Amino acid sequence: MSNASTFPDMKRRGEKIVVVTAYDAPTARIEVEAGVDIILVGDSVGVNILGYAHEREVTLADMAHHIAAVRRGAPGVYIIGDLPYATYDAPEQAIGNARILRDAGADCVKFEGAQPDIVRALTAAGFDVCCHLGLESQHHEVKRRQGKTAQAAAKLYDDALALDAAGQAFLVLELVPHELAARVTRAIKAPTIGIGAGAATDGQVLVVNDLAGVTAREFKHNRRYGALGAALRDAVAAYARDVRAGRFPEEAHGFHMADEERAAFESLRP
Ligand code: KIV
Repeated sequence: MSNASTFPDMKRRGEKIVVVTAYDAPTARIEVEAGVDIILVGDSVGVNILGYAHEREVTLADMAHHIAAVRRGAPGVYIIGDLPYATYDAPEQAIGNARILRDAGADCVKFEGAQPDIVRALTAAGFDVCCHLGLESQHHEVKRRQGKTAQAAAKLYDDALALDAAGQAFLVLELVPHELAARVTRAIKAPTIGIGAGAATDGQVLVVNDLAGVTAREFKHNRRYGALGAALRDAVAAYARDVRAGRFPEEAHGFHMADEERAAFESLRP
């Protein structure tokens, strides 16, 4: 079982930290069998699982529900859970909502944006905190690359240092240039977890639906390691063909009454 101190040690040793999202128990169990270090129950649950149009629609109840499912599927894994949009605007609010995610099974809470005061409040209340800079799906109207200009890069770099000084346990860097992610990774104590941020970060995270080939859309930052969407569609189509053709179920898929019970039933209901 990992705890927050496992990961700075990995950073020191230069061992890459493998993070992937999960939103349900069987996927979490399979990810642990596959050897992931951390599961992120992200607010990406909204668009990937719940059919929402935007991450902003995700509620605290949604997050607690899915974190609890992942915890049941993966009792020993280190889980980072997202605080949804507008649930961490003030320190007391963030602490109260982080408690709900911790009670659901999260080891660490993540939020988007440069708010060192929220990091300080949460760490003082005993929480591991993962910060998230670069593309902030909850806050940016358009999902596009961040930190491309010198000014924007300098701002993100300074924000990362401020969050580190406040005590963040991890920093997710999403869609930022490789050289900026590398500079931030060298400058801060906390392990950086990149997505579309190059290979120099201390770890990587991908959305499981994207890497497994469930998501229809292709993303530049992603690599498809499977074709689960196509496999599922083929399996359901084969089942539908068999039902319609009378090939499923077969004799072996069901059972019969014992002769005497059937005879008794026929006499009860002739
Ligand atoms: O919600 C999420 O899955 C995330 C990742 C994209 C880092 O925040």
